[in-house]
Amino acid sequence: MDQIVESPEKKPLANTRKVFVKTYGCQMNVYDSQRMTDALSEQGYEPTDTVEDADLVLLNTCHIREKASEKVYSELGRLQKMKRKRAKAGAADLKVGVAGCVAQAEGAEIIRRAPVVDLVIGPTTYHRLPDVLARVESGQRVIETEYAVEDKFEHLPEINREKTLARGVSAFLTVQEGCDKFCTFCVVPYTRGSEVSRPLSQLIVEARRLVDAGVREITLLGQNVNAWHGEGPDGKPWGLGDLLYHLAEIDGIARLRYTTSHPRDMDMRLIEAHRDLPKLMPYLHLPVQSGSDRILKAMNRRHKAEDYIRLIDQIRDVRPDLALSGDFITGFPGETDEDFEDTIRLVERVGYASAFSFKYSARPGTPGADLPDHVPEEVKAERLERLQKLLMAQQTAFQQSLVGQTMDVLMEKPGREPGQMVGRSPWLLPVIVDANPAKIGDIISVRITKAGTNSLHADPA
Ligand code: SAH
Ligand code: SF4
Ligand code: F3S
Repeated sequence: MDQIVESPEKKPLANTRKVFVKTYGCQMNVYDSQRMTDALSEQGYEPTDTVEDADLVLLNTCHIREKASEKVYSELGRLQKMKRKRAKAGAADLKVGVAGCVAQAEGAEIIRRAPVVDLVIGPTTYHRLPDVLARVESGQRVIETEYAVEDKFEHLPEINREKTLARGVSAFLTVQEGCDKFCTFCVVPYTRGSEVSRPLSQLIVEARRLVDAGVREITLLGQNVNAWHGEGPDGKPWGLGDLLYHLAEIDGIARLRYTTSHPRDMDMRLIEAHRDLPKLMPYLHLPVQSGSDRILKAMNRRHKAEDYIRLIDQIRDVRPDLALSGDFITGFPGETDEDFEDTIRLVERVGYASAFSFKYSARPGTPGADLPDHVPEEVKAERLERLQKLLMAQQTAFQQSLVGQTMDVLMEKPGREPGQMVGRSPWLLPVIVDANPAKIGDIISVRITKAGTNSLHADPA
């Protein structure tokens, strides 16, 4: 899921330097890349989407599976060549930084293995980027990955209005970071540290700034977003449900979403928010990983398959049009054919509108890596293929079920063909609308005419 985050958002001044940011991994990294871009902008670095033009390349990395981490080293190899070429041509030097979760997990090793790297900065310390860059300019190679005691958000520049505008009408807002769940397969508690919730007042300020810049849809982010907690204006403890009720009162916000949730933190207030708030979109990403109680226990998920199904039934009771998405892992150590059949049964019982599924990847330092009975790669792959077939069939069925329906779509950008626009359905799927009079940021009613593989087609209703 690589994404090149930046597009040229503002005409750079002749003497400004340029930064190319490449983002790997989850939405939280996308958000972090935006904040780093904003912080660098104050240092005179303007974003570019052409790596060859860059004075600074920043890789915002993901450590979640082996393949994700490996990508960083191959990218660094390419940058090394580019740097050499520039030196030969007598061109301006290229500085290279590694940020994000690989930086946090393997900072010292990156510096050792990749001489091209000038700086390594962790996900909790990137507000120190200006200082780190100054040290790099003076010839040092810098690792800045000690967990910060200060709140980075207090030290970052405010959300940049112009850049927000250029990024579109749907924005991310990180409300919670880190994870205390320690699922035995997962590196996140080690790369992102323990769970921290941003205070309510900070979030309200940021949400208002986003809205002032023209944002209509806000997706609240967290590794365990539904573990967010804070103190309300009434002095009482607030959870994510309360936060959603509160944000829904901000006029300019038309749509709210949140991701990613853990089943154990779905409380009644959050379920009620799905019942009461029309602005809260009827789409929930609620990973379960496996349908086998034995494997869920070994994964330290701390719930059973039946608890998950009961929870889904409860939410669907109050919000019948809710569509679900999930994450699955095949071939966790000790997973038998019977365990895998339990996963298939769970998927059949729940029915997903979309899903992400992965072969288990043993991550150094996680308890899962030391478990006995690792599953052979080919068995993991076979199971993944079968699971993905089922999930894909469910996804197609869901998309087909929308054909003929009328729904509200938030217009996001022009389409490929003249007169076309692309918007977003309440269920996240892009909707291509023909012959439509709307502007970006409008929400219009459309009738779905056709379902493609990853998008819907519609006419104004
Ligand atoms: N915080 C979220 C997701 C974290 S990572 C949650 O708790 O659900 C996103 C997904 O990557 C996970 O849900 C899991 O399905 C997958 N994943 C994490 N570690 C993995 C590993 N070691 N091997 C394979 N998939 C993994
Ligand atoms: Fe990883 Fe589990 Fe935390 Fe999600 S809840 S980030 S899967 S440890
Ligand atoms: Fe990857 Fe870190 Fe996100 S490991 S999935 S970028 S929290």
